[in-house]
Amino acid sequence: MKRSRAPAPGGKVLIRRARRADVGRIHKLIEEATRSGKILKRSRGEISRLINRFRVAEERGVVVACCALEVYGRKLAEVRSLAVHPERRGRGIASALVAGCLKEARRRRLYEVLAITDRENIFKRLGFAEQLHGQKALFVRPS
Ligand SMILES: CC(C)(COP(=O)(O)OP(=O)(O)OC[C@H]1O[C@@H](n2cnc3c(N)ncnc32)[C@H](O)[C@@H]1OP(=O)(O)O)[C@@H](O)C(=O)NCCC(=O)NCCS
Repeated sequence: MKRSRAPAPGGKVLIRRARRADVGRIHKLIEEATRSGKILKRSRGEISRLINRFRVAEERGVVVACCALEVYGRKLAEVRSLAVHPERRGRGIASALVAGCLKEARRRRLYEVLAITDRENIFKRLGFAEQLHGQKALFVRPS
């Protein structure tokens, strides 16, 4: 019988660093999330190359969510590729992943962490704001 990769009914969620073996699953989660959310596609090759930047949430041995902390330098890092399996949403898993990224940013003494999102509540509850010390983040698509 073919084994299903769909997660089993909810269990304890473990947040951990991603491993090489998670690449396929992360790719699938992001691919799936692009259908319902504003999130950029990422190729398997790119995920594989950046695997040490990813964290995953695991439930009963199945990876059900992912996100990446992209560090651009001591001054700035970005939370990217936040995706939770559709059947596992609304239980604080994304919030726990973002909180994990912030913990890592604090540990590494990074100055600012950025998120570009249409789900601002998740980030605002964790302290993200549209303005920081009177400054705003502005962005543009040059083409
Ligand atoms: C956006 C997305 C990552 C959110 O994942 P999630 O695990 O459902 O997020 P959370 O559970 O942390 O928060 C979602 C809601 O659940 C609620 N919630 C329920 N239990 C919670 C808990 N224990 N802790 C925190 N929030 C909880 C929150 O209030 C929140 O509601 P709000 O956003 O209206 O304020 C998910 O919907 C997804 O993968 N979407 C497609 C991809 C996408 O849009 N990514 C871009 C995000 S930057």
